[in-house]
Amino acid sequence: MQLRGTFDRLFSQELAVAIAVFVLVVLLFAIALIRGRAGARGEPAKRTENHLLEGSYVLVLIVAAGFLAWLSITSNDHEQAAAGPPQVKVVVTGFQWCWRFSYPGQSVSVVGSCAQGSGRPTMVIPTHRSVEIEVTSADVIHEFWIPYFRYKVEALPDHVNHFRITLTHSGEWIGRCSEFCGLGHAFMDFNIKAVSPSAYKHWLLHHSASTALA
Ligand code: CUA
Repeated sequence: MQLRGTFDRLFSQELAVAIAVFVLVVLLFAIALIRGRAGARGEPAKRTENHLLEGSYVLVLIVAAGFLAWLSITSNDHEQAAAGPPQVKVVVTGFQWCWRFSYPGQSVSVVGSCAQGSGRPTMVIPTHRSVEIEVTSADVIHEFWIPYFRYKVEALPDHVNHFRITLTHSGEWIGRCSEFCGLGHAFMDFNIKAVSPSAYKHWLLHHSASTALA
């Protein structure tokens, strides 16, 4: 559950910065309105440019954007560093329009059809294990998104992105594609299910057996 906590905190910090910028803009706007209202001054100001003032807006915005980027990068790095060395690996491949979850070395692969809510694939992972998730795409750009964890990773063709996740509770959550990828984009939902390590072993065994039979 660390992921969610880390990114909840990050979102609150970003919200605080956004509110501060919003208040600043509204305040400056109100001051300009009151001071520049009709009749307050006989004629409009002759001044057309103020390089120092305009330059300072740009500087403030660059500092705010830089601060937000730094906050996101350090939160992500910190979160991933805390995850520990990977014990289980899952390769996630997005395609038009569903997902494949492969378990390297286990000859287990789950492929969904996603269409209209039927055949939604489920990624099963064990709790209390550091799970390395590799995300890629077979065609266009998709995005692997688990709203509950506040986590998104781009699924890019010819590139692998990875992140680690360690869940302390079992449960099931919905995942979605959050990059518009064509007609079936809205149907690219999947489930992520965390089970105890023994239930995970059982699932792997059962699933590799059923895959072999199929
Ligand atoms: Cu895949 Cu949107």
